[in-house]
Amino acid sequence: MNYPSQRPRRLRLNPVLREMVKENRLEIQQFIYPLFIISGKEIKKEIPSMPEQYQFSLDKLPQEIEEISKLQIPAVLLFGIPSYKDETGSEAWNPEGVVQQGIKIIKKENPELLVITDVCLCEYTSHGHCGIIEQGQVNNDKTLDLLAREALSHADAGADMVAPSDMMDGRVGKIRQVLDSRGFQNLPIMAYSVKYASAFYGPFREAAESSPQFGDRKGYQMNPANSREAVLESHLDTEEGADILMVKPALAYMDVIHKIKEKFNLPLACYNVSGEYAMVKAAAQKGWIDEKRVVMEILTGFKRAGADLIISYHAKKAALWLKEG
Ligand code: PBG
Repeated sequence: MNYPSQRPRRLRLNPVLREMVKENRLEIQQFIYPLFIISGKEIKKEIPSMPEQYQFSLDKLPQEIEEISKLQIPAVLLFGIPSYKDETGSEAWNPEGVVQQGIKIIKKENPELLVITDVCLCEYTSHGHCGIIEQGQVNNDKTLDLLAREALSHADAGADMVAPSDMMDGRVGKIRQVLDSRGFQNLPIMAYSVKYASAFYGPFREAAESSPQFGDRKGYQMNPANSREAVLESHLDTEEGADILMVKPALAYMDVIHKIKEKFNLPLACYNVSGEYAMVKAAAQKGWIDEKRVVMEILTGFKRAGADLIISYHAKKAALWLKEG
């Protein structure tokens, strides 16, 4: 069949029909909104490279949670910025740490809001790396115990799901084992399975105050040139007991999202990271792009590529736009 019998434009001319034959739909139920919780009081500090995103102290959380809940965003992803950092990142498993307290405050404010916690040490270590340093390198196996301790403390505080983002080998299995041994068999793990050593995390490191003080993360995060390795990582995490896989960043890795979706039967999340957000906001502020249209196009692109869940700093605005129709 060919033109003129085939005329794809027939289905594009009427807006009602166009909407009916739309292949991919964004739904608020798929959004996860990241939140930065900082120690201190009365802080709601805008992150310079991430307009409209803030660091919140615990007392400022309830108001934000109310807004998120009103928009019907179902889940938040928590990051903590502690006042105290040391070599091992011990604040990460402090039962009175910012994330642990934050979980309780959020759950009190809205018990139905799903609280997911980022499990990593870089925000808590004095050197800014995602694990214990030995001879200038992150020691994989010694780091696992600490990550599991952190995950357990989040579970104890009432988290609904934990999300390890450190990229140590074997961490999903270790966390699963420790959670299970403490009665948290039903607490899911969303694994940052495919996480690249990306320049797109720049603004986040300002937001989370987590830049490495020496070197970089290339010794544990993936090489952006690799795609076969994404399959290997997803295999390992699946076998270790991950419940949800993730690809991060998202925009420059749509092919990877697609590939992982095709090959695995677990739900797939993508993380639309800070640098991706910053680029859109900067261009929109300059009047160079239409923010709403660009954001919706990007988010829809993630769905088309195969993401089931979308972690995005745009989630609040996108939810509002979806509600407005
Ligand atoms: C912690 C972590 C990072 C991000 C999420 N968890 C930073 C990093 O690995 O350097 C980045 C998120 C973003 O850029 O929005 N390891």
